[in-house]
Amino acid sequence: MELDVKQNRKAWEAASQKHVREYDELLAQARDETSLFPREQELLRPLLRPGPVVVHPQSGHGLDDIALVAAGATRVVGVDFSPTAVASARRRAVDLGVPCHYVVGQMPGAPLANACADVVYTGKGALIWMPDLDAWATDVARLLRPGGWLFLYESHPAVPLWTWDEDEPRIRGDRGYFERGFVNDTFPGHGAVEAQATLGEVVTAVVRAGMEVRVLEEYAEPFWRAGGVDAAAWRGSLPNSFALMARKVDVGG
Ligand SMILES: C[S@@+](CC[C@H](N)C(=O)[O-])C[C@H]1O[C@@H](n2cnc3c(N)ncnc32)[C@H](O)[C@@H]1O
Repeated sequence: MELDVKQNRKAWEAASQKHVREYDELLAQARDETSLFPREQELLRPLLRPGPVVVHPQSGHGLDDIALVAAGATRVVGVDFSPTAVASARRRAVDLGVPCHYVVGQMPGAPLANACADVVYTGKGALIWMPDLDAWATDVARLLRPGGWLFLYESHPAVPLWTWDEDEPRIRGDRGYFERGFVNDTFPGHGAVEAQATLGEVVTAVVRAGMEVRVLEEYAEPFWRAGGVDAAAWRGSLPNSFALMARKVDVGG
C-alpha cells in the first residue's frame, strides 16, 4: 500500500471542485464567522499579535487564511497543489479584499523563498498526505525565519483506530497505531491511501528539523465530523486532534 502523490493530486483536484460548487456558502462563512477553534485562537493570539506574515501549506479552501488575517496576520500565503483549490481561495480573498495570496505548489518543496514566514500555519487534514515527515518538517523549517513559529492543528494519529459506531467507542482490528498507512474507507476520502505517523514521530521530525516544541496538546474534539455521523469515539473519552507549537531555533538568541 503506497501513497501515490500524482494520484492524490488528481483526487484533490476533483475533490476541490466542491469549493467551486459551494463558493457562495463558503464566501458567506468566511465573511461572517471564524474557522479557527476557540483553543486555536487562544494559542495563536501571541503569535498573531505582532502582525506576522503567515505561510499556510496545504491551504485548501483558505477559510483559515481569512480568519488568520481577521485575528492579526498582516498577510497569508497559501500553498496547495490543487489549482482548483488555489483558484477558489484566491477568488474569495479578492472578493473580500483580504491580504491572502495563493501559489500552486507541492509540499514538501513549497515554491517560496527561505525564511519568508514569521509563522507557518498548517494541519486539519494535511499531515496524512505527507509520507516523509522529515522532508515535510525540513521544508517548514526552511520557510520560517529564525525565531519563527510552526503552528500545527491536526487530526490525532490514533484516529484511524476508532470505529464510527454510535453506541460505544471501539478499536478497529484491521488497523494499527504503528502502521505506515491505510486505505480510507469512509467519506470523503474513500479509497485514498493516507499516511500514518505516531505522535512521537511527528514531534521528532519537528525537533530534528531545528524547531523547539513549546506546546503539545491533545483534544477529545475532532477537527472535523462527517455529516450525519455521531461516533461514540468523538464524545470525549478518546484523543481526536492535537495542537503543536514549535519555534525555529534562533542561533542569534
Ligand atoms: C484536507 S485538505 C485541508 C486543507 C486545509 N487545511 C483546510 O482546512 O481547508 C488537504 C489539502 O492538502 C492539499 N494537498 C495534499 N497533498 C498535498 C501536497 N503534497 N502538496 C500540496 N498540497 C497538498 C490538498 O489539495 C487539499 O487542499
